[in-house]
Amino acid sequence: VAQLKGKDFLALADYTAEEIEYLIQYAIELKRKQKAGEPHRILEGKTLGMVFEKSSTRTRVSFEVGMYQLGGQALFLSKNDIQLGRGETVWDTAQTLSRYLDGIMIRTYEHRKVIDLARGATVPVINGLTDHAHPCQVMADYQTVLEKKGRLKGLKVAYIGDGNNMVHSLMMGASKLGMHFAVSSPEGYMPDAHVIQASKDNAAQTGGSLLVTADPREAIENADIVYTDVWASMGFEAEQKERELAFKNYQVNEALVQYAKPDYLFMHCLPAHRGEEVSEGVIDGANSVIFDQAENRLHAQKAIMAATMI
Ligand code: CP
Ligand code: NVA
Repeated sequence: VAQLKGKDFLALADYTAEEIEYLIQYAIELKRKQKAGEPHRILEGKTLGMVFEKSSTRTRVSFEVGMYQLGGQALFLSKNDIQLGRGETVWDTAQTLSRYLDGIMIRTYEHRKVIDLARGATVPVINGLTDHAHPCQVMADYQTVLEKKGRLKGLKVAYIGDGNNMVHSLMMGASKLGMHFAVSSPEGYMPDAHVIQASKDNAAQTGGSLLVTADPREAIENADIVYTDVWASMGFEAEQKERELAFKNYQVNEALVQYAKPDYLFMHCLPAHRGEEVSEGVIDGANSVIFDQAENRLHAQKAIMAATMI
């Protein structure tokens, strides 16, 4: 695997299949070490800055704890507390933070801002979620699938719901890893056409496939993994009511999952709205692996940080 030291982690599109697979294996190894109590202070004395312009439970805690376990430390920089929130430019912020820090994680709205931050920074920048992508979540998700199913290539992932940041990263990752991916969203809420096209192109090379359909039943047919996410992401709260209407036939519930494989995994990045995008019975049922996903955020991000910030 090519050297990842110094590389940004902005989107899975920037990573090869070999690099993604390497990071998943590295995460599994770091998870084993942490569970066994073996020291792995790979980032001793290093500091990660975490810029948050949106709320977070999992991302903040897993990055912060992850840095601590790697022997370093993390700083929580909320937008209300740093000058970026008062109009200091992204460039000046990136240049300044790079003089103190060994890596920067950012969660924000426009994906452009993360790209600009990475351009201005001289240390690795990690995308902790934008409106466009959530690549750290997908590293944890496919690690979870590998742990549960023993393989990734050839499995079918069905995503039902909003064509948002989650589905973009899930689709891109699946297409690189040779997985079959089916997405079902209502008209007007389909995933980004560029991501669809790029994923189709990847899938054609890796033996995967991509299906985009308005019919959730067609998408979920024979799926190994059933994934959904909230109907109104952060920043879209004002559209909650109209989205509830648009998505009312897209709930992942008992009636729909009967078309998936009997041993399907139910996945959700969390936070979830029980009774909206997913029924209580499904999200709290025997096929659900939501807290394994949440746990793997810690291990997946430790691998990303250890590989890029070393
Ligand atoms: N899944 C996820 O990123 O959760 P948080 O918003 O709590 O960080
Ligand atoms: N799509 C959701 C994911 C949260 C982790 C959002 O952007 O709010």
